[in-house]
Amino acid sequence: MSVRVIVGAQWGDEGKGKIVDLLGTESDVVARFQGGANAGHTVVVNDAQFILHLIPSGILHPDVTCYIGNGVVIDPAEVLREIDFLEKKGVHVRNRLFISGYAHVILPYHQILDKKKERDPNLFLGTTGRGIGPAYVDKVDRIGIRMIDLLNEDVLREKISLNLQLKADQLAGQEINRDVMVAEYLQFGEQLRANVADISVLLNKDIKAGKNVLLEGAQGTLLDVDFGTYPFVTSSNPSVGSACSGLGIGPTNIDSVIGVFKAYTTRVGEGPFPTEFDEEFAKRVRSWGNEFGATTGRPRRCGWFDAVLARYSARINGLTGLAITKLDVLDQFGTIRICTGYQIEGEFVENLLTDRQTISRVEPVYEEMPGWQQPTSDIREFEKLSREAQNYVKKIEELIEVPVTLISVGSERKQTIICE
Ligand code: GDP
Ligand code: IMO
Ligand code: MG
Repeated sequence: MSVRVIVGAQWGDEGKGKIVDLLGTESDVVARFQGGANAGHTVVVNDAQFILHLIPSGILHPDVTCYIGNGVVIDPAEVLREIDFLEKKGVHVRNRLFISGYAHVILPYHQILDKKKERDPNLFLGTTGRGIGPAYVDKVDRIGIRMIDLLNEDVLREKISLNLQLKADQLAGQEINRDVMVAEYLQFGEQLRANVADISVLLNKDIKAGKNVLLEGAQGTLLDVDFGTYPFVTSSNPSVGSACSGLGIGPTNIDSVIGVFKAYTTRVGEGPFPTEFDEEFAKRVRSWGNEFGATTGRPRRCGWFDAVLARYSARINGLTGLAITKLDVLDQFGTIRICTGYQIEGEFVENLLTDRQTISRVEPVYEEMPGWQQPTSDIREFEKLSREAQNYVKKIEELIEVPVTLISVGSERKQTIICE
């Protein structure tokens, strides 16, 4: 039995979906613990691509039970769309997907407020527009609406009325009909009633029974509201702490924490990015790596692997293993750079400080390594990689001081090198 946490260790889109699906093969339970439909996790099996926003990426394994914990913010319309999409593809979901009754719900006004804030040039962050920030604000402000509230008409009406009243100024000019909203969300509640459960009870029971459990993070550590490049972050904690608070389990249950890293770095939205490529090179890498957002379709910003950020992520998450993805995207590079340190005004900086002023002033210090310039996508054993590719992976391991347990060389489940 084991309880493993999979966390994004950079700025999101590291390939968590692929890794969770792969490890799902040997799991009984896969659970999401934070974020919402801002996530876009891609799973590719036998040429069929599935992009999941809320449903855990273990769902394609018919014997895996999937949980969405209290730490996730739920857009019920999106959950129903995903269920429908999967069922149409022959993946049966209804009898093995359970959502915490304590998970907060995203309502239309959250999305309106998210987009409205984004239109203000002083507040623009490049969010996904999915209403994530405003929904977490209501949660912390203790006026949020939870999944269990969708099962009780009186409570739901009262809470929606209160929210519309409190937000009246911000929502002025918007066409919002309270009764239509209440009816729509009651309907969502009815459609999901059988799937609402107490996830803490279920998951603790599974752990006691010795099941293999995988906890799936969304976003990445550098988008963490506490530890990321604030204010250019999301509104939850994508780092490992949420695996406990977002599901209702204790930290002593966790056996290992795997950080997923791309073999280079990407970021979507605004914010500092010390190792970012110039636009011309970024364009080429974007096309090799197909670096376009799985949720919004936006082009991703691209840059070199940043070992300073990686060490920071390893520390925040207590990583026990690394999964390196997209090694194949580097196949064409003649020379590869790794950022091994930063300088600020000539002074070497060992530890990352994520405040906006400091991180935007740092100068990366690079080490250059020769590329391998041969395809890696069909390789399944570490020893069969060229010496240059092996050295690159070993260099990352050495700089982060955490063992690499998995290397991904393509988007398909089978395009993986297991190093353990
Ligand atoms: P996530 O949000 O962390 O799950 O990552 P995304 O799904 O948003 O983005 C990762 C993208 O890279 C997806 O299109 C995956 O299909 C793709 N991908 C994952 N691993 C690999 C890999 O090793 N090589 C290549 N070429 N693509 C990969
Ligand atoms: P996955 O799980 C990459 C980014 C947005 C924006 C910031 C805040 O697929 O890795 P939000 O909508 O959360 O308020 O946006 O966070 N962002 C992501 N970037 N991958 C994600 O998820 C992301 N989820 C949010 O682009 O910069
Ligand atoms: Mg993604």
